[in-house]
Amino acid sequence: MADGGDSTAPLIKKEKRKESLGWFEWGRGWFKVVEEFLFQRIMASHLENPLPLPPLDGITFVVTGATSGIGLEIARQLAQAGGHVVMAVRRVKLAQELIREWQDVENSEVGTGMPLNVEVMELDLLSLDSVVRFAEAWNARMGPLHVLVNNAGIFSIGEPQRFSKDGYEEHMQVNHLAPSLLSMLLLPSLLRGSPSRIINVNSVMHYLGFVDTEDMNLTSGRKKYTSYLGYTGSKLAQVKFSSIMQKRLPAEAGINVICVSPGIVQTNVARDLPKAVVAAYHLIPYFIFNAKEGSRSTLFAATDPQVPEYCGVLKADEWPVCPYISFDCRPMNASEEAHNLETSREVWEKTLDMLGLPSDALEKLIEGEQIQCKYGSERH
Ligand SMILES: NC(=O)c1ccc[n+]([C@@H]2O[C@H](COP(=O)([O-])OP(=O)(O)OC[C@H]3O[C@@H](n4cnc5c(N)ncnc54)[C@H](OP(=O)(O)O)[C@@H]3O)[C@@H](O)[C@H]2O)c1
Repeated sequence: MADGGDSTAPLIKKEKRKESLGWFEWGRGWFKVVEEFLFQRIMASHLENPLPLPPLDGITFVVTGATSGIGLEIARQLAQAGGHVVMAVRRVKLAQELIREWQDVENSEVGTGMPLNVEVMELDLLSLDSVVRFAEAWNARMGPLHVLVNNAGIFSIGEPQRFSKDGYEEHMQVNHLAPSLLSMLLLPSLLRGSPSRIINVNSVMHYLGFVDTEDMNLTSGRKKYTSYLGYTGSKLAQVKFSSIMQKRLPAEAGINVICVSPGIVQTNVARDLPKAVVAAYHLIPYFIFNAKEGSRSTLFAATDPQVPEYCGVLKADEWPVCPYISFDCRPMNASEEAHNLETSREVWEKTLDMLGLPSDALEKLIEGEQIQCKYGSERH
């Protein structure tokens, strides 16, 4: 050959796989985070606190992580508005104490003196077996589920990398994998409750996330592990998985998957920060929402009658990302990276694979068929 090149070399070079966010996306991501921090109070000033809720009698909600912060507020307010609330928690005793407080007439702050329709069920997202057990127990009732609120989450700031007993990086497991498994396995109950909703308490920090589907556990060494990488990646993975789930759910199923940003909220989420930083965090209450303020966007997404209509419009337009509600209860555009449908599909497939679910699990569950999952002992 005249050019001395290899005649078997492909004529078109394979496009290089993206390995991280570009500088522009990264800058925009930080801009979004700082904007949310500085202006959330002004942008949400039209909202009442607490958010007024419609009567919720006859509506069943499962709320994960209902023992602290945003989840505690969500569960209490839903129950006090008449909803049937299942607190899905790992600290069962604490949840039972909370219910007593909420019903206590002498507790002037949160007690109503009225009996509430709340129950507690054990769920540890660090164990996929626990997720399967929870779903089995719930589905066995053959009752409807109207709203699943995947609220529980962790951000182990500054902590070394840790893995669950299932072998997955803890942020990825608690914030993305386990809630995804829960959403999938509860589909039969959500179908019975249709029209129904899955609300994922996400974060503006997904704007800073990047998911490498070949390294979901962040163990390849291509990038040095930090809790920031773990948290932001897990929150982006949740948006991407939700986007494909929302696309694959047929409109007739009447189930919508919605992500929500609660704002920047003073909770226990920063419990692992150094004490001095936590103290500083408590000194800036003007900018930071309290848990009641931080619960508003989730409560809105879970109960407002206009939300399914908004979801329907995005579905009809084949919008590439799941519906996303901002801390001010307005629609929000997810990050540019979240719009990449190709990688969202990869995240979907990889997630099902990590959860030991077949690639057609969603379609089978919607058709009322049973599926095999490698966690738990039985068929679903
Ligand atoms: N606070 C913010 O500024 C902020 C901003 C954006 C997004 N978010 C998101 O909001 C959600 C709620 O966080 P928060 O701020 O309310 O934090 P939080 O006060 O720390 O509450 C987190 C809840 O999740 C539960 N949880 C943690 N690990 C669990 C596990 N393995 N199994 C079951 N439950 C588990 C906790 O249970 P225990 O009580 O047993 O620990 C707790 O009830 C999270 O998804 C978080 O990422 C928060």
